[in-house]
Amino acid sequence: MHIGVIGTGYVGLVTGACFAEFGVFVTCVDKDTKKIKSLKQGKIPFYEPGLEELVQRNIKEGRLTFTTDIAEAVRSSLVLFISVGTPPRGDGSADLSYIEEVAKEIAVNMKEYKVIVTKSTVPVGTGDRLRKIVSRHLNEKVDFDIVSNPEFLREGSAIEDFMRPNRVVIGADSQQAVAIMKDLYKPLYLIETPFVITNIETSELIKYASNSFLATKISFINEISNLCDKVGADVHMVAKGMGLDQRIGPKFLHPGPGYGGSCLPKDTKALLKMAEEHNVELGIIYAAVRANERQRESMAKKIKDAIGRLKGKTIAILGLSFKPNTDDIRDAPSIYIIRRLLKEGAKIRAYDPVFKSRELLLNSIKLSGEGSALSTSSSKLIKFCKDPYEAAEGAHALVIMTEWNQFRNLELERLKKLLSEPFFFDLRNIYVPQKLKKLGYKYFCVGRNLSNSYLQYYETKGFNE
Ligand code: NAD
Ligand code: UGA
Repeated sequence: MHIGVIGTGYVGLVTGACFAEFGVFVTCVDKDTKKIKSLKQGKIPFYEPGLEELVQRNIKEGRLTFTTDIAEAVRSSLVLFISVGTPPRGDGSADLSYIEEVAKEIAVNMKEYKVIVTKSTVPVGTGDRLRKIVSRHLNEKVDFDIVSNPEFLREGSAIEDFMRPNRVVIGADSQQAVAIMKDLYKPLYLIETPFVITNIETSELIKYASNSFLATKISFINEISNLCDKVGADVHMVAKGMGLDQRIGPKFLHPGPGYGGSCLPKDTKALLKMAEEHNVELGIIYAAVRANERQRESMAKKIKDAIGRLKGKTIAILGLSFKPNTDDIRDAPSIYIIRRLLKEGAKIRAYDPVFKSRELLLNSIKLSGEGSALSTSSSKLIKFCKDPYEAAEGAHALVIMTEWNQFRNLELERLKKLLSEPFFFDLRNIYVPQKLKKLGYKYFCVGRNLSNSYLQYYETKGFNE
C-alpha cells in the first residue's frame, strides 16, 4: 500500500516513519521547504529518541520519501493522513485553518477513490466539515471516505507509543474505509492491539476526552500534593496507595509544576469551548484547567516565599522542555515560572540537555504574558549554560524544572559549593528530601513537606523512590 502523510511535525513524521517501518510506502508532505530539504537528507528538525535512525533506514530502503508537492502524494496514495497543527485560537477553540487548507488541496488533486484520515486532534464535527469541503473542491466526480484516526503518542516515547499503542481508534461510516484502515494497521492486529471501531464523531471525542482525563488526573494529584504539604502527608505514598486500586491505576499521578506541552493545555481548552458551544457544562475539566494554572503560579510563589526578595537574585533552572526526552517547550511550565521570576527582578541561568534556542524561549515567554511582555532589558537576564554546574555558578537557588535522567544523579556536594545560597527546588520530586537536607540544602519539593521522624524512616527503609 502507498500512503501520504500531510504535515511532517511530531505526529506526521512519526506516523510516516512508523508506517514505512511496517513496510508501507509513504510520501510525507510539508509546506515548510527547509524542513523537507533537511528531511530528505535524513536530518530531523526536532528531538525524538530513535526517530532519526528510523527515518534514515526507511529512506535508504526506499519506503519513505519527502516532498513539498501535495499533488504528488495524492496521486500515489490510497490513504491520506492529515497531521497538520490545530493550534488554539484566542478563545481556546481549535484553529482548523491548516486542516481545511489541506482538505482543499487534496480535493483539487483527486482523480480516484481516496481515504482521507484526520490524524490531527480535531473537534467533533470536523469530519463532516471536511467531507463538505472536499466535495465542494473536487474537479471531477470522485468517490472518497473520511476517517478519524486520532493519535495517542507521547513526545519522548513516540515510536514505542505508535508501534505498541494501548489501542487504535478508527471512526468511519464506510465498511470499505474501515477495511483499508485495518489492513494498514495489520502489524498491530498481529500483536493483539485492541481496535475501537466507531463513528467519526465518537472517535473525535475519544481523543479530547482522553487528553482531558489525563490532565484531570494530573491536576487532581497536584491539588492533593498541596494538601499533603500542609498536613505532613507524603504525596508519593498517597499516589501509590490510590494507584494500587485497579479502578484508579498508578499512571499520571505524579505531582509537579503543572502539565504542559502542545496538547493537554490546548485540548482541555478546546473541549471546554466545544461544550460551551453545545451548552453543556464540563465543570470537572474547567476545574482541572484552573488547578493547572494555579499550580504553575504556586511553584513561582514557593520559590519567592522561600528566598524572599527576588530582585537581583540569580536562579539556576535545570530543564526547559515540558517533559524529558523532547526539545518541545510549547506551553512548558518553565516558560510561566521563568516569566514570573523575571518579573520579580531575578536573573536566570538555564540549562536543558537538548533545548538550546534562547530566541525561542524568549519569544515563548513574551507570548505567554498577559499584557506584561518581557522587556528587552529583562530578556538579557537569561543566560544559557553548558551544563548544570555552570548554571549553578553563583546562583542563589537551583530549580529542577524537568526530570531529565541526567539530573537524577547530580554531584550534589560540588553543586552546593557552586551555589551562593543552598536553595534547592525539586519541582519533580526526583530527590530524597532527607538526603538533600543532610547535605545542607534548603530543600523544597511538591507534596512531601514531611516531618523529620518520617524522613528518618524514609531514609532507613529506602522506600521505593
Ligand atoms: P507540528 O506543529 O509539529 O507539525 C505540523 C506540521 O504541519 C508542520 O511541519 C507544518 O509546517 C505542517 N503544515 C501546516 N500546514 C500545512 C499544509 N497546508 N501542507 C503541508 N504541511 C503543512 O504539530 P504536531 O505536534 O505534529 O501536531 C499535529 C496534530 O497532532 C495536532 O492536532 C496535535 O494536537 C495532534 N497530536 C500531537 C501530538 C504530539 O505529541 N505532538 C500527539 C497526538 C496528537
Ligand atoms: C499527551 C498524552 O499523554 C498523549 O497520549 C497524547 O497523544 C498527547 O498528549 C497529544 O495529544 O499530543 P505528551 O503531551 O507528549 O502526551 O506528554 P505527557 O507524558 O502526557 O505529559 C504531559 C505533561 O504532563 C508534561 O508536562 C508532564 O510533565 C506532565 N505530567 C505527566 C505530570 O505532571 N504528571 C504525570 O503524572 C504525568
